[in-house]
Amino acid sequence: MTHPGPIDSGTCTPVHSSVRTFRYTDTDSTNEQALQSVTEGAAHDGDVHVALHQTKGRGRQGRPWVSAAGQGLYLSYVHIPKPPSPRPEAVTVAAGLAVLDAVREAGAAGAQLKWPNDLVCDGAKLAGVLVESRGLRPEAPHFVVGVGLNVLQREFPEELEAGRQVTSLVRLGVETSCRRMEELVLDRLPRRLAQARRDPLALFEEFLVTANLRGTEVELVTGEGAWVGTCAGIGSEFEVELALEKGPARRFPLAHVQSLTVLP
Ligand code: BTN
Repeated sequence: MTHPGPIDSGTCTPVHSSVRTFRYTDTDSTNEQALQSVTEGAAHDGDVHVALHQTKGRGRQGRPWVSAAGQGLYLSYVHIPKPPSPRPEAVTVAAGLAVLDAVREAGAAGAQLKWPNDLVCDGAKLAGVLVESRGLRPEAPHFVVGVGLNVLQREFPEELEAGRQVTSLVRLGVETSCRRMEELVLDRLPRRLAQARRDPLALFEEFLVTANLRGTEVELVTGEGAWVGTCAGIGSEFEVELALEKGPARRFPLAHVQSLTVLP
């Protein structure tokens, strides 16, 4: 499929001098468009793909991302880092923190991160991040950072609300627009991605504190089982340290952690 040219690049705060914004009225998925441009060799670091409406917006674990026209921010950011490349988990955490920075700046003071990439407010999902790569080559790594943020929705489809609690900025009483949220996210994201390269451990630590995980009793789930203990921090080899109720502390590589939740 031929890639559409940039339609409008005038309103984003250009953090990179070469920022290009590809705007779609309708598309399947901005992550898909961004990944295609990478595959075609047409992508630049810092390219932004943003849609008013997605027909096949996707979330983690093969779930759809409901993308009502003009109601949310549906954005994908192409990150082609210079070496040394950040760890994929650091890119996800950096993106989550960038969206958190943006929504707090907009006025959603109660927003919080939930492992690994959910943004929630009082338990209801406000935003999600999906980081994808296609044919990642160690010599030329790339990441497509997809951000879905609920902005103006007062209602959600029944089936979505039946599955889990969801919210939007307008439901939280924050008056803003999708374009304003785009500007805020694009202002924060490159800085957080730079931090992911420069000091990933500090980023993970900030994540643990921001998500109220550090020093808290948590349940940690990997493909091998579930453990309950106190989250003691992030080890130098990028593992979550858990002080178990019985026995010695255990370390779990970040890449193996499927969920990390605060126990009620
Ligand atoms: C999740 O929480 O499951 C992640 C949701 C990510 C949704 C965004 S919307 C823009 C970008 N394009 C997609 O198809 N998905 C991401």
